[in-house]
Amino acid sequence: MSFESLWADQSAIGRNPETGGYTRGGWTPTEREATHWFLDQCAARGLAVESDGIGNLIAWWGASDGPGVVTGSHLDSVIDGGAFDGPLGVVSALAAIDRLRAEGFEPSVPLGVGAFVEEEGSRFGMPCLGSRVAAGVLSAEKALALTDRAGVPLALALEQAGIDPAGVGPSPLLQRMGTFVELHVEQGRGLTAPVGVASSIWPHGRFRFTFGGEANHAGTTLMEDRHDPMLTYAMTALAANKQARLAGARATFGRISVEPNGTNAVPSQVTAWLDARAADTATLELLLAAITKQATERAERDGTTLEVTPESVSPIVNFPTGLRDRLVGVLDGAPVLPTGAGHDAGVFSDAGIPTAMLFVRNPTGISHSPAEYAEQDDCLAGVEALAAVLKDLAK
Ligand code: GLV
Ligand code: MN
Ligand code: MN
Repeated sequence: MSFESLWADQSAIGRNPETGGYTRGGWTPTEREATHWFLDQCAARGLAVESDGIGNLIAWWGASDGPGVVTGSHLDSVIDGGAFDGPLGVVSALAAIDRLRAEGFEPSVPLGVGAFVEEEGSRFGMPCLGSRVAAGVLSAEKALALTDRAGVPLALALEQAGIDPAGVGPSPLLQRMGTFVELHVEQGRGLTAPVGVASSIWPHGRFRFTFGGEANHAGTTLMEDRHDPMLTYAMTALAANKQARLAGARATFGRISVEPNGTNAVPSQVTAWLDARAADTATLELLLAAITKQATERAERDGTTLEVTPESVSPIVNFPTGLRDRLVGVLDGAPVLPTGAGHDAGVFSDAGIPTAMLFVRNPTGISHSPAEYAEQDDCLAGVEALAAVLKDLAK
C-alpha cells in the first residue's frame, strides 16, 4: 500500500475537526482506535504481532524467533498535538516494509514494526511510559502508582483497554530488538535537507512546582495582606524563561492547576509543571537550581510555600556513532543533528540496544501543535531512506 493512502487512512483517526489536532492519550478510545488500525494493517500483511504487559507492540516480518531489526514509533499524542509526531514513524515503517516486499527483498533477520504506548506521557505524566517500563527503567510498582488527571489509575486504564495489569514489567520484546531505528518528524527548524540522522537527545526533566498560599476574598483582602501563590508562580515562569535564555537551554511551564480556581478568590494553591531541557546534564542541573532559587526567594517575599518534585528525569542520549555513521553512509552523507525532543529511541539506546533515529524535515519547526507539518515529498524521502537503512541492516 502506498505511503499516501496509509497516511490518509491513519491521520483521519481522532482528528478534532475544530482544531485539526489529535488528543490520543495512552489507552484512550482515540489511541486505541489508532492501535486497532495498526493491528488491522499488520493482519493484512500477515505480520505476527507480539505484545507485552503494558501494550507495546512489535509486528514481525520473517522468522518468529531471534533478534531482529525493529523500526516504528508511537501512535499516542500530546493534548491537541499534530498528525506527524509518532504516527509518521509507524506509517513510514509499514510503507517501507511494503516497498521492500514489492522489491522482492528477503531479510536475513526478522524485521519488526513497533508501536510503543504513551510515549508523550500526556495522560499519565511520565514520558516514554511504555518503553521505560519495558526496559525496566521504571518499576511496575511506580508505573502502577500513576493516575491520570481524572484520577484513573494505570491499572484501570489498562483493564479498560483489555490489558491485564498483572503483566506490567520488563518486556520480553526487548530481547528481540537487535537494532532499533525510529523515524520521526524533526521538531525544530534544525534540518534543512529532507532527511537527517540523530546524534543525540538532550537531557530533560519534568518537575512539579507546588506553590501554597492562603485563599481569601478578591475584593476585601488588602494587596499587602495577601499570600498569593499565583504571584510566586508568575514570577517563577518569568525566571524560568530568563534563566533558560541565559543558559542556551529550554524551560517551559505548559501546564498549571489552580485551587480553588475561582475568579473572585485569591488562590490557595498553584501547581505548575516545569519541562526543562539542555544540551548537557550540568547545564540542566544549573538551570533547575537557578529557577528554584528565584522561586524560593519570591515565595519568601510572598509568604507562600514552594515544593519542587521531580516527576521524571531523562539522561542525555548519545546514539552509538558506528550505527549512526552507517546510516549516514547508506544515505549518502545525510546531515547529523541533535534534538531537544524525547523519544522511545533514547530509552532503548540507554537499555543497550543499538539504536539510531532518522528525522524528516519540518519546514516550520512547529511541533506539539495541530500546525505541525511535513511536506509529502519529504515524507516519501523518509520512507525511501528508512527502506534503504532496513535493507542494509537486514541484508
Ligand atoms: C516528546 O516529544 C517530548 O519531547 O516531550
Ligand atoms: Mn512528542
Ligand atoms: Mn514522538
